[in-house]
Amino acid sequence: QSPTSNPQILKAEPPREASPNPQILKAEPSREASPNPQILKAEPPREASSNPQHSAPGEKPAPRRTPGVTQKLSNYSQIKALDDLPPAQREALEAFMRRYEEKTRRSKELAQRHKRYYADPRSVTGFSALWKEICYQLASERSKGARIWDVDGNEYLDFVMSYGVALFGHAPDFMQRAVAEQLEKGNSLDVLPPKATEIARIIAEMSGMDRVTLANTGTEAVLGAVRAARTATGREKIAVFDSDYHGMVDQFMVRGVRFGVGLRALPATPGVPRFLVENNLVLDYDDPETLAVLERHIGELAAVVIEPVQAQNPHWQHPELIREIRRLTEKHGVALIFDEIINGFRMHPRGAQAWYGVEADLVAYGKSISGGLPLSAIAGKERFMQAFDGGLWQFGDASRPEATVNYFAGTFIKNPLSVAAAHAAMSELERRSPELQRELNARALRFFERLRRLFLETRAPLLLQGSASFFMLKPADDNPLTRLFQYFLRLEGVNIRERPCFLSTEHSEEDLERALEAFRRAIQNMMDAGLMQPWTGEDLNRIVPPPPHLDGPEPTPEPEAPIQVEDPAEAPLTEGQLEIFLQHQLSPNAARAFNIGTEIRLEGPLNPESLREAVRRVVGRHEALRTTFAPDGSRQR
Ligand SMILES: Cc1ncc(COP(=O)(O)O)c(C=O)c1O
Repeated sequence: QSPTSNPQILKAEPPREASPNPQILKAEPSREASPNPQILKAEPPREASSNPQHSAPGEKPAPRRTPGVTQKLSNYSQIKALDDLPPAQREALEAFMRRYEEKTRRSKELAQRHKRYYADPRSVTGFSALWKEICYQLASERSKGARIWDVDGNEYLDFVMSYGVALFGHAPDFMQRAVAEQLEKGNSLDVLPPKATEIARIIAEMSGMDRVTLANTGTEAVLGAVRAARTATGREKIAVFDSDYHGMVDQFMVRGVRFGVGLRALPATPGVPRFLVENNLVLDYDDPETLAVLERHIGELAAVVIEPVQAQNPHWQHPELIREIRRLTEKHGVALIFDEIINGFRMHPRGAQAWYGVEADLVAYGKSISGGLPLSAIAGKERFMQAFDGGLWQFGDASRPEATVNYFAGTFIKNPLSVAAAHAAMSELERRSPELQRELNARALRFFERLRRLFLETRAPLLLQGSASFFMLKPADDNPLTRLFQYFLRLEGVNIRERPCFLSTEHSEEDLERALEAFRRAIQNMMDAGLMQPWTGEDLNRIVPPPPHLDGPEPTPEPEAPIQVEDPAEAPLTEGQLEIFLQHQLSPNAARAFNIGTEIRLEGPLNPESLREAVRRVVGRHEALRTTFAPDGSRQR
C-alpha cells in the first residue's frame, strides 16, 4: 500500500460512519450492515479485552481493543437503506420513526428550516440512511438540574449533560446567580476580572500544580500546554496516542497508520495538511512495543500528551504504561501532559494524577471547571508555566521576567462572564471535594452495575463501559438497528447519545431508578418490534471502579511541595544586612566583599535544564536568596 494523503484510503482501521466529529474517528469498530436480521444466526462473540498491557512484551501486537461490535450476527453489509430491510422490520422502523417525529415535530421543523443557511456539523453526526428522517438534534427550550425540555415541551432525564460540562446539573442556582450578577456589571475585556486569580489559586491547590493560566476551550488548553512544553524544552516534536482526542486544531488531528514498525502520522480528517501532523510521534496503547518506540525517540520530544482516561472508552485504563511513561519522561526532561478536559476534577479532586498515582508536568482542564461558559485552564509546574509570563517575578524588587515567553492570548480569555461562572463552579468544587467525587462515583458505579444486570437479564445487545461518573453505551452486535436504541430511549424520556454520557450531582437515586425503568421499556419495545436481536454471547460489559487507594484516605504520595515564594513580608534589616546595604550605597562593587565564593565542579555531560532547575529550587527553598532591601534601607522583604 503506498502512502497517501487521504487517511480514509489507508484502511489502517475499519471504515467508519460519516462524522465530522473527530471523537468518532477514534478507534471505533466498523459496523457492517446486514441483510435479513430475521434469519440471523449468532456467531460466537469476538474476543473482548480491555487492557492492552496484558500482551507480553515481544508478542505480536495484540489486536486493537475496539470495544463495540462483538457479536457478528450475519452479513449485514448489504443493508444500506430502508428498502433493504425485510418488510416486517421496515414497517416497524417506519412506525417507530412516525412516533418519534410526532413527539419531536418542532425540533425537526427547526432543523429543516435552518438547513438552508446553517451548515451544522452536528447534523451529520451519527447519520444513518436507514433512519435519515429522524437524524436531527433535539432543540432545547430550557434545562435545569438533570433535565432538559425540548421545544415540543417534552421532558428528558439527561445523561449527555452538555458533553460533561454540567457536573452540577444544568443551570445550578449558584452559577445562574453569579453570571446574572456579572451580567449586570458588564463583560469588558482587557481588564482583570478579580475572580480570575482566585480560579487559578483553586485549580493550583486542587491539582497540586505550581501555577495556572486560563484559556477558552479544551482545545486551547491542550495547545497552550504543548506550546509551554516546547518553549521550556526547546524541542518541537510531541508524542500522542492514536486513539486519544485533544481538540480540533490541525496539529492534534492526527492518526497513526501502521507501516512496518510503528505508526506513521497522517491527518485524521480532510482539510488538515500532512506537514502539520507528520512530525508527531503517534503511539498505540495496544502495542507492546510502545515503550520501546517512545524510548527510541524520547530525546527529540518536547512532550508526551495523554488522555489518561478516555471518556469514549472509560474502562480502558493503562496505569502501568502511564507510570512507565512518567519514568521515561522525567528522566529525559520531557513534559508529561495530561489532557483531563473531560475527567479533571470529576473523577477525583486531583483527577487522573490521583487515580493513577502519577504526577504530570502540565494538566489541561476544561468542561466541568467552566460552569457552563467557555473557560479552560492549564495547570503546571513552574518550569513550564514560566513560558506564559516569564516566571514568577515580584513587584518592589529587582526580579523581572527571565524565562522565554511564548505568545498565548485570545480576545475572550478570562472574559468576566466566563470567569464568574467558572469561579462559582470551582468554589463549589473546592468546598465539596472530595466527598462530591466519592459519592458521585459510588452512585454511578451502582447505576452501572444495575444497567449491566438489566442488559444480561433482558439479553439486550448493549455494551456498557463505565468508570468514575461517565459511561459509554455501544452496540454489542453488528445489527445496524441496535444503534436505534438511543432514539427508543428518548421516547421513554431519557436522553443519551452514542457518545460519552455523564452523571451529575443532580441525578438523584429516584432519577436513576426512573432511568433504569426507561431502559427496560426501550429494550422491550425494540425487541417487540423485531428491531433488536437478543444477545447470545458472554457478559462483555466493562466497569472499572475507582482504584482502592481512592476509597479511603489517600496514600498517594503528596506532590513535591510547590516552590513557594512567600508574601513579601517586611522586616527591619539585621545588623549584617545593614552593613551590606551601606557598603552597596558606597559602591555596588564594595558590597561584593560580602560574597562568599564557592566552586562546585560538575563532572560528566551537563544537562543545563536540570542545573537551572536545581538552582531554581535552591532559590525557592531559601528565603535569604530572595531577600531584597527597600531603596532607603529601612526594611527588607
Ligand atoms: C479529552 C479532550 N480533550 C480536548 C477536548 C477539546 O475541548 P473543546 O471542545 O472544549 O475544545 C475535548 C472535547 O471533548 C476532549 O474530550
